[in-house]
Amino acid sequence: MGKDVIIACDFASANETFAFLERFTEKKPFVKIGLELFCAEGPSIVRELKRRGHKIFLDLKLHDIPNTVKKAMAVLSGLDVDICNVHAAGTVNMMRAAIEGLTRPDGTRPLLIAVTQLTSTDQESMENDLLIKVPMQEVVMHYARNALAAGLDGVVCSPLESERVHAACGSGFLTVTPGIRFAENEKGDQRRVMTPAAAREAGSDYIVVGRPITASADPVAAYLRCLDEFTNGGKE
Ligand code: C5P
Repeated sequence: MGKDVIIACDFASANETFAFLERFTEKKPFVKIGLELFCAEGPSIVRELKRRGHKIFLDLKLHDIPNTVKKAMAVLSGLDVDICNVHAAGTVNMMRAAIEGLTRPDGTRPLLIAVTQLTSTDQESMENDLLIKVPMQEVVMHYARNALAAGLDGVVCSPLESERVHAACGSGFLTVTPGIRFAENEKGDQRRVMTPAAAREAGSDYIVVGRPITASADPVAAYLRCLDEFTNGGKE
């Protein structure tokens, strides 16, 4: 696995997802399946998209007691997803249990990454609701180091944090970054955004792109542009 663009398939049904993905004949995109689609369709959507040749990031952000997460991860490992994730807030023990559950008898496993702090949590809600009274950046970096200590492969973070995470956790520790917009795009509800080319410069390993591709008049062209900007710096 190397640098790649992951399309966030934030659709409500399998049919919508298939209709969207059937346009991509040149290259089967790496796709992210989130909670909405997984809750609607269950594991069958994962099996079918794998059968159609897509790599899958299953974005379920698990957070529970270690034993429950371990068992759920064993199921996801059997589904042959390529990347899945947990909340680093579940503790180092929970993340270690997740790795155990994911690891197949032959020693192989999907990549596992951690969510540090959701971008919907700001400093104020972190302090008042969660009683975490240190700067957000410190929390994010502490959680990233915990994920590394637990044996995880990387974190979901803002492309603006990729460099810092690599400096603290090593260049091999993956940064998977949403919050991507083309230079001329509306930001929508994303506040801190980067272009695919800037995310490449910042060292992101994977970019997760939703609406700039899914809501485009020509999603295939938008995807190929994203791929070119991210993998070649837009030089081709
Ligand atoms: O449409 P857009 O490009 O904003 O989609 C980004 C995708 O990444 C969505 O599926 C969103 O839920 C997800 N995401 C995010 N920010 C995070 C974590 C996940 O935007 N911190």
